[in-house]
Amino acid sequence: MGIRTAQTRDIGPLARLWWQGWRDAHLPIVPKALVARRTLDSFIVRMALALPHIRTVGPVGEPLGFHLLKGDELHQLYVEEEMRGAGVAALLMADAEDRLLEAGIMTPWLACAVGNVRAARFYKKAGWALAGTQTMPTEIPGGWFPLKVWRYEKRLSAAPSAWGAAAEAELFRPSERTAEAPRADIGAAPRTIM
Ligand SMILES: CC(C)(COP(=O)(O)OP(=O)(O)OC[C@H]1O[C@@H](n2cnc3c(N)ncnc32)[C@H](O)[C@@H]1OP(=O)(O)O)[C@@H](O)C(=O)NCCC(=O)NCCS
Repeated sequence: MGIRTAQTRDIGPLARLWWQGWRDAHLPIVPKALVARRTLDSFIVRMALALPHIRTVGPVGEPLGFHLLKGDELHQLYVEEEMRGAGVAALLMADAEDRLLEAGIMTPWLACAVGNVRAARFYKKAGWALAGTQTMPTEIPGGWFPLKVWRYEKRLSAAPSAWGAAAEAELFRPSERTAEAPRADIGAAPRTIM
């Protein structure tokens, strides 16, 4: 079980994971008008369009999480509910940072809806720094919706990440490893901040 590119069979499960994760994190904190536009169908369409750029983890057709990069932005990072708190997010983040570095991006950014405290805590733990609060257009079917977000940034370095390695070790402790999740298949060494 390593980080991999998404495949056609992942579209449906990834869209549902995204839709459910979005609802978990955003229902209490964003305007109802935005919630009304975030239908499962809208996530299926967005996921199908984004598929070539999606990196995921887990068996084909049974993804546990994903990330989506858009230029210098970490555009989406989602983990399936039962896998939250288990280190999957750290693996996805390490892969996202590696891909950004490969693209020559040294200071990526991300937007996190104001009030998404769990995500914000994760980003802080991963070395991302709050750069400010701003209102940004977020994509909805047929247009854009203004949303207040926390902007995070991170100065990447090619040095191995103690944080990422610790998360990896926690997720794949020897006693919990399975034949499907060998240590050697986890993926590239994580990178981290200055
Ligand atoms: C954001 C996300 C990818 C982070 O992954 P994760 O596995 O949950 O991350 P972690 O558990 O390692 O870190 C989350 C931190 O928030 C804490 N936390 C857990 N529940 C929380 C809550 N209800 N409120 C605030 N903090 C919470 C955790 O304890 C942890 O902090 P700690 O390690 O200092 O104790 C995942 O929660 C997720 O997919 N959420 C739904 C989708 C989402 O919000 N995506 C980001 C959009 S910007």
